[in-house]
Amino acid sequence: MLDPRDWEAFRSEAHRALDDAVDFLRDVRERPAWQEMPESAKERLREPLPNAPSAFSDVYQSFVENILPYTGGNIHPRFFGWVQGTGTPSGAIAELLAATMNANVGGRNHGAVYVERQVIAWSRDLFGFPPGATGVLTTGASEANLIGVLVARTRALGGEVRERGIDPQRARITGYASAATHGCVRRAFEIAGIGSEALRILPTDAHQRIDTVALREAIASDRAAGARPFLIVANAGTVDVGAIDPLDEIATIARDEGCHLHVDGAFGALAILSETLRGRLRGIERADSIAFDFHKWAHAPYDVGCVLVRDGEAHRATFASEGPYLTRMTRGLASATPWFTDYIPELSRSFRALKVWFTLKEQGTARIAAAIERNVEQASALGAEIDADSRFELLAPVRLNVVCFRYRPQGLDESELDAFNDELVIRIQESGIAVLSSTSIGGRRALRACFVNHRTIDEDLQILLAGIRELGERLARERLLG
Ligand SMILES: Cc1ncc(COP(=O)(O)O)c(C=O)c1O
Repeated sequence: MLDPRDWEAFRSEAHRALDDAVDFLRDVRERPAWQEMPESAKERLREPLPNAPSAFSDVYQSFVENILPYTGGNIHPRFFGWVQGTGTPSGAIAELLAATMNANVGGRNHGAVYVERQVIAWSRDLFGFPPGATGVLTTGASEANLIGVLVARTRALGGEVRERGIDPQRARITGYASAATHGCVRRAFEIAGIGSEALRILPTDAHQRIDTVALREAIASDRAAGARPFLIVANAGTVDVGAIDPLDEIATIARDEGCHLHVDGAFGALAILSETLRGRLRGIERADSIAFDFHKWAHAPYDVGCVLVRDGEAHRATFASEGPYLTRMTRGLASATPWFTDYIPELSRSFRALKVWFTLKEQGTARIAAAIERNVEQASALGAEIDADSRFELLAPVRLNVVCFRYRPQGLDESELDAFNDELVIRIQESGIAVLSSTSIGGRRALRACFVNHRTIDEDLQILLAGIRELGERLARERLLG
């Protein structure tokens, strides 16, 4: 038996761990936004596979010293890198409780399944999907997008594609997405066996929204060449700048062309929670499938994304399978069909739904929406400050929650700016003041600040700006002198 020998001793150790965790979150602002794990801590982790047991308190102590301080930074109020949610203290407790139940949510008849069904029902309502629509919680938007692509493949080629594979002699299917689309969509085409060459990458306008004239032309030209356009992937919040494609217009194109419309709304889709932002997503309710993350703008702890599919039959036809060891019954634990494994490649699955259920119930959608709106205002405020300062150059209009810009020190040649700004991003991270990430906008390297952080307050923006100015000036001096 692997249970504690002394439950009361374990209880006190567990209470201590919980107290430490609460303190850790309460005091997050007092620590650096990020600090590199020192070699000494990495070294202490390197040890042979333990054969003999250790006391829980010893293992815990090693965790506290060698692992806990070295977070990826995203719980900190001045983390603006990539697109990473902050999490919440109650979400952490939900994770503990989910692990306590240790539910396997591939299917069967137990509480966790009904919680996930409820989360999916809420999501369906949120996006105006009909009752027959299906959904499942995923590891994230990458997996949710993959499922969207696979369902679209089934709808185009029939369920028999699972046995036969894709035969280009029978049908050459082609998909469409803008150049601003996240790389996981391309990867989904590769994994789905369609091949990324069959994903047509379309140009964007000045706001990084898909060029719908080019979209129509590409579809017509592929059709004329004997291909079968089957899928349009639209963005509700592009990864680089947060652009939202004209979803309603694209839904009409998809309908006219007989294409499946999948929306990658990894973070942006949850702007639907906000009354003031919702209008920007008009048309999302017409999608055939939507991918979005609860671990980004809803702040459920990692990992949890979601995919919704309007055509539930096609969703089932894409994944459902049988085996005598998985026989479904009409009563007992093996009942309660359909099972979630019928909608996703996973069989064994964690109880991801509990942290979402806790978060949505405890915070309420109004509070989450307010945090989203605050992030949009913060991005706009930072964008305005950047625009007003001659040392900076805004590289894309701030439309939602992302600010892409670069530092332009006087006297530095244009050709040196990319390397300068990449170095500046690293220095800001290493300073512990804040975390930004980098990207390329129009071929120019950018500092990128993305606001999906419910802990950020206005003062953090001032600290961030002061930090960038100071480190930028110092780096510029070094470059000009050196
Ligand atoms: C637009 C977009 N799509 C997809 C993804 C991938 O999401 P995940 O990291 O949850 O797999 C991201 C991640 O930032 C994203 O911004």
